[in-house]
Amino acid sequence: MSDVLTGTTTGAIRYRGRHEVPVAFRPPAPPRHFVGRDRELAQIRSGGVTVLSGPGGVGKTALALKWLRDRGSGDQLYVDLTAREPVEVRLNRLLEALRLYDVPAEERAAVFRSVVLLRKITLLLDNADSADQVTPLLPASGTVLVTSRAKLDLAGAHQIDVEPLTGDERLDALLEESYVELPERQARLYRLCAWHAGAHFDVPVAAAIAGEQECDVEDALDDLVEKSLLTEVGDEAFRFHELVRAHARAKRYQ
Ligand SMILES: Nc1ncnc2c1ncn2[C@@H]1O[C@H](COP(=O)(O)OP(=O)(O)OP(=O)(O)O)[C@@H](O)[C@H]1O
Ligand SMILES: [Mg+2]
Repeated sequence: MSDVLTGTTTGAIRYRGRHEVPVAFRPPAPPRHFVGRDRELAQIRSGGVTVLSGPGGVGKTALALKWLRDRGSGDQLYVDLTAREPVEVRLNRLLEALRLYDVPAEERAAVFRSVVLLRKITLLLDNADSADQVTPLLPASGTVLVTSRAKLDLAGAHQIDVEPLTGDERLDALLEESYVELPERQARLYRLCAWHAGAHFDVPVAAAIAGEQECDVEDALDDLVEKSLLTEVGDEAFRFHELVRAHARAKRYQ
């Protein structure tokens, strides 16, 4: 069924059909190695505008994407505000993504807000640098997440300061980043060997733990060493750094 839109003024819009945002305009997946942020995830509101502000690289976008993936609902539209383009041009691009063509320039903001409202689309406005950039895009109600390096003066918005991850969380993120890339054999060996009671283990012990051939296990262990998930000690012995062992053990329960 094709989408049908009648009217172009705010009050007259009737939208029927598939309620879908094209893939290119949907939020990308959050990082697979996402860690922490439980408090911030709980603070983001379903309904209303939440502004996530904090320095570059602190994790605002990752946090927003994680929330949308885990706790958001319905259609979601990702708008990157980085490009310096006139607001009418941006709106036209967004409206076309929503399959609304040839909307007169002066009506675009109102039509965009109405469609977002009617279709209950959750917005992520990423990389805003001023409140003026955001305000024309805000529907009268619904869920909107905004990320910005600046504190935005948006009336009624819920403000969350995104602080840097703690040292332990950063380490966890790094471990997670390496772990999610592991082929299943290595991942399994990583999880299992972490339960070895002694300080060190060698290839025969690892092979016994995993129930695999020594030659296969040897390659897999070398791979774990290369990825800094395991430390080689002396001749053919291995050990886990304490924090890495805790990470590996925790994996068994997920
Ligand atoms: N909670 C997290 N767990 C794991 N990795 C994270 C987390 N938060 C952020 N990162 C990683 O840190 C990097 C920077 O995060 P992000 O892009 O979200 O920062 P930002 O605050 O949006 O920065 P900018 O202001 O430049 O847009 C990314 O590679 C992201 O995957
Ligand atoms: Mg960002």
